[in-house]
Amino acid sequence: MSDTLKTSKKMLTRKNVLYLIKKYKTPMWVYNEDTIIKQIKKLKKFDIIRFAQKSCSNIHILKLMRNYNIKVDAVSLGEIERAFLAGYLPKNNNIVYTSDILEKSVLKKAIQYNIPINAGSIDMLKKIGKKRPQHPVWIRINPKFGDGHHIKTKTGGKDSKHGIWNPMKALSIIKKYQLNLIGLHIHIGSGVNIKNLYQVCSYMEKYALLLNQKIKFISAGGGLNVPYKSTEKKIDIDSYFNQWNQTKKIISSKLNCSIQLEIEPGRFLVAQSGILIAKIYSVKKTEKNTFILLNSGFNDLMRPILYGSYHKITIIHRKINKVKNHPIINSIVAGPLCESGDVFTVDYNGMLLPRKIPKVSPGDYIIIHDTGAYGASMSSTYNSRPLIPEILYSDNTFKLIRKRQSIKELLQLETII
Ligand code: LLP
Repeated sequence: MSDTLKTSKKMLTRKNVLYLIKKYKTPMWVYNEDTIIKQIKKLKKFDIIRFAQKSCSNIHILKLMRNYNIKVDAVSLGEIERAFLAGYLPKNNNIVYTSDILEKSVLKKAIQYNIPINAGSIDMLKKIGKKRPQHPVWIRINPKFGDGHHIKTKTGGKDSKHGIWNPMKALSIIKKYQLNLIGLHIHIGSGVNIKNLYQVCSYMEKYALLLNQKIKFISAGGGLNVPYKSTEKKIDIDSYFNQWNQTKKIISSKLNCSIQLEIEPGRFLVAQSGILIAKIYSVKKTEKNTFILLNSGFNDLMRPILYGSYHKITIIHRKINKVKNHPIINSIVAGPLCESGDVFTVDYNGMLLPRKIPKVSPGDYIIIHDTGAYGASMSSTYNSRPLIPEILYSDNTFKLIRKRQSIKELLQLETII
């Protein structure tokens, strides 16, 4: 339930938030380093943790990951460059490129730096093979079923464009070009249900044995969920690990080779570390609804309009109310964009879903929680609203890790002459 800001977390105090607002203006993203470190530690049993940087690709977040020995996944040339800027060296499988297509510029870079390619299509393998036999590759297997917190985040099954449907065919291409197969990868989607785990692991085992190659790695993919609502449970990491570790041991012993087990989370590491702070500019009523309008919309946080995602909301009243208890009002929280869908409080199907919010007035502030994953990294400049700053709370200090984009910078690319 939404409430005024009550929290024991050190970063989130009224004083800190008001300080940030004064210093950086709204809207802004803020991340708590301690939360990320806490999440990293929960996965320490896995041989390798590979951060799916698409979830929060700021170079400073990547540097933090690198300092904790986390490897990185890249899905575009831009993400490879980000990894380099964060200090990742292209050796020891530190950076793996995962995709379903292979652009010329990416292939060139991957060959130049010997970056392993996790191939999600046979066409990719052919392209690599023609340019550079011996290149290290993974096969991303489509295990014929998927899972996810939303239909749009399922990445397996016959309706998914991801992964290789016929791994045996992939093997014949790998052999033809003498590519160096180092790993097998399955990622069934984002926000997976642990109930499917047995099925995923069995599939990995089945194909590892059918392919019968001396691989070095298997990857369980990402997708580990975090509780966005207070009613949602945390994922049981021990069960998750045990099931995969068992699979690793079986494959390793039957293929008679030593294998490392990778996990490739994005959201699990960063979602709960981040908040979005915005300002309330208008409170208006229709016959049916009370709308709270902010200076941040789906240009900044896309998850609600795209997946009907729930994010907890808290309020920072500009003035501390002497009466303290603000009346609770069923409200719709919405952004500034000229689209009716620009609403943060929606259900799974995107329909308006009023939230219990303490009474607010223009000038008060709002915090949208658990936005560290797929928040800033999915933002756009729709309605010509510039990208907003990112701030990292580390060692009890707030550090600006991305400036606010200026309108001049936003328009610069169009200054052709
Ligand atoms: N590995 C692969 C190959 C992926 O495609 C993804 C996410 C991950 C790992 C990390 O998944 P995670 O652990 O973060 O769930 N924008 C959506 C999620 C789409 C994720 C795309 N791929 C959201 O906001 O929920």
